[in-house]
Amino acid sequence: MDNLIKAELLKGLLGNPVHIPAWYPYDEEGSRLNDICMEQCRWYYFHRFEMKILNDILTELIEYLKDSRMLVDLGSGNATKTMLILDRLLKTHESLTYVPVDISTEFLNKTAANLKTIYGNKLEIQPIGEEYMVALRKIKYVFYSVYLLFGNNFNWFTKIIVWFGSLQSLSYGKQLDYLLEIRNTMQVDDKLLITLDVTDTTCKQTIELAYLDPEGYSENFHLNSIHRLNREMNANIDISKFKIRNELVVNSRSNNCSYVNVWIEAIENCDVHIGQLDLTREFQKGERLYLHEENGISCKYTIEQLEYLLNKASLGMEKYWRNEHVAVILVNRK
Ligand SMILES: C[S@@+](CC[C@H](N)C(=O)[O-])C[C@H]1O[C@@H](n2cnc3c(N)ncnc32)[C@H](O)[C@@H]1O
Repeated sequence: MDNLIKAELLKGLLGNPVHIPAWYPYDEEGSRLNDICMEQCRWYYFHRFEMKILNDILTELIEYLKDSRMLVDLGSGNATKTMLILDRLLKTHESLTYVPVDISTEFLNKTAANLKTIYGNKLEIQPIGEEYMVALRKIKYVFYSVYLLFGNNFNWFTKIIVWFGSLQSLSYGKQLDYLLEIRNTMQVDDKLLITLDVTDTTCKQTIELAYLDPEGYSENFHLNSIHRLNREMNANIDISKFKIRNELVVNSRSNNCSYVNVWIEAIENCDVHIGQLDLTREFQKGERLYLHEENGISCKYTIEQLEYLLNKASLGMEKYWRNEHVAVILVNRK
């Protein structure tokens, strides 16, 4: 994975706009900072409203998921939300296969060990410490191999793919690519369950504060990208020469969505050297380094925008539930 990471970093740092990929802050330390932000930052509404709606609809939701024997968890993190579903399914199922996927391998292994302690042999855990696309292809390959062996007798279990709070963290252009890949791994009766931010974008201040709060929780997480470059790539970025900023970009077209841009901006001219990438770059005063790919992260949608996106990936919205900030969408294959 190391060479892939370097290649992606170089692409972003030499790109236009200059950026660091949005997945880069998620090493073990970044995952820890993200958890602190979700649990302690009162400005970060998404996690609280996501927990609330999942708890509110759980009994109804389980009715749709109860036949599944396998649960794939994309961007599993600490799996707190997934455990709501696992707890319920394991009341009626003898056993379940759980496939957590996360780019943050050390954190993934900790989560897997924690879940093993809680659920014991009832949960067969098969972690995949890879980028979503690589992991989805592996899952598809396993199912395809079994299909070649067993042909039409293959329908031995259906799976649920959950993707909590993470699709919206990709740039809009990439979201369709990932949804198409998910669709390719789904069999007819499989379900995809996603949570997304549907906050009214006229609440600009609420949204911007959620991703750059006055107490510094989200800043600590975002800046882990820079600290990780210094730690692992032998970079010399002096963060005191930059300030962090964000902005909500509202987009009401049905074939797009609103999103947040987050960047650091040089407050004076400075040179940056990144030893492992053999890269030196001068930042002029005011020049920006984005902390995600082009067209933002932390997307906000209307239900119509979500319908359009899913439809483009030949996926259907079977049912959705929503509150002030979060939509939980049960998706099927068209
Ligand atoms: C916003 S957190 C969500 C964690 C958890 N699902 C939750 O709702 O609390 C995103 C998670 O996805 C992982 N992640 C981010 N980008 C990824 C990528 N491109 N491929 C695989 N995992 C990724 C991160 O390491 C992190 O654990």
